[in-house]
Amino acid sequence: MAIETDVARHYGKAGIAERVLAALHDAHGPEALITVDALSVLDHFHGRGIVATKELVALLKPKPGEHLLDIGSGIGGPARWFAAKCVVFVTGVDLTPEFCAAAEVLNRATGLADRVTIKNGSALALPVADNFFDRAYSQNVIMNIADKRQFYREAFRALKPGGVLALSNLCRGAAGDFRYPVPWAETAATSFLATPDEMRADLLAVGFEIAVFNDTTAGTLPATIRNRERLERDGLGALGIHLIMGPRILEMQINSARNQEAGLSRTIEALVKKPA
Ligand SMILES: C[S@@+](CC[C@H](N)C(=O)[O-])C[C@H]1O[C@@H](n2cnc3c(N)ncnc32)[C@H](O)[C@@H]1O
Repeated sequence: MAIETDVARHYGKAGIAERVLAALHDAHGPEALITVDALSVLDHFHGRGIVATKELVALLKPKPGEHLLDIGSGIGGPARWFAAKCVVFVTGVDLTPEFCAAAEVLNRATGLADRVTIKNGSALALPVADNFFDRAYSQNVIMNIADKRQFYREAFRALKPGGVLALSNLCRGAAGDFRYPVPWAETAATSFLATPDEMRADLLAVGFEIAVFNDTTAGTLPATIRNRERLERDGLGALGIHLIMGPRILEMQINSARNQEAGLSRTIEALVKKPA
């Protein structure tokens, strides 16, 4: 509980939706439509942003009309993207009340409130029924979770038999001096990176079958380096994650990239199945 309080405090900032909508109107004019495409430069809060969400869509392959669970849904960018582009229903669960409030405003602004439902709660005690969801996904959340088996047990419980869970997150790489703050944590006190082998073992231990388990670091590193160089050269633009997290995100993103460049973290993409 203490960890969750500190994690929610790290992310929670007042007035997120208002800042986002004002910035979009400044950039595109007062009549500009608020669409998932227009929002996508700032509401996918994970490394490589919308590019990574598109890869997750390709991995998860949802079918129209299905029910998806987004564990740690942030301000709802990926949930709205799935709902709009794949014509599915998404339930997003997130710990941070300010993120849930922003997600609800943006769901209404994009006309997706009937397809995206947001619940404020913990991934460790998901406020959802057993055996309900066709598919689930989680992007860059588990780095905040100390009890990873409980996270996976809850995802397993929420999925229908035969349902699949897609995961995209950072794992621990080589030992070394990890730089903080990073986008998910101010200090090591709320950052919990498992090794890829530990992640696999935890997934198998709760009953998942592993369909895909890829270390994508070699493929993602060039974009991470380009983005870090751009941030160091140009600083923050008008539209970006700083509208959610404030200007310190600049230092956080640069540190995260440097950790990855030094081999201290690895990007992992996995697809696991609850047996039918
Ligand atoms: C880096 S953000 C990623 C948000 C979203 N998945 C995305 O990609 O846009 C991490 C998110 O995990 C959420 N989170 C962290 N610990 C959580 C927990 N125990 N239960 C639910 N959400 C959690 C945070 O509130 C935050 O929204």
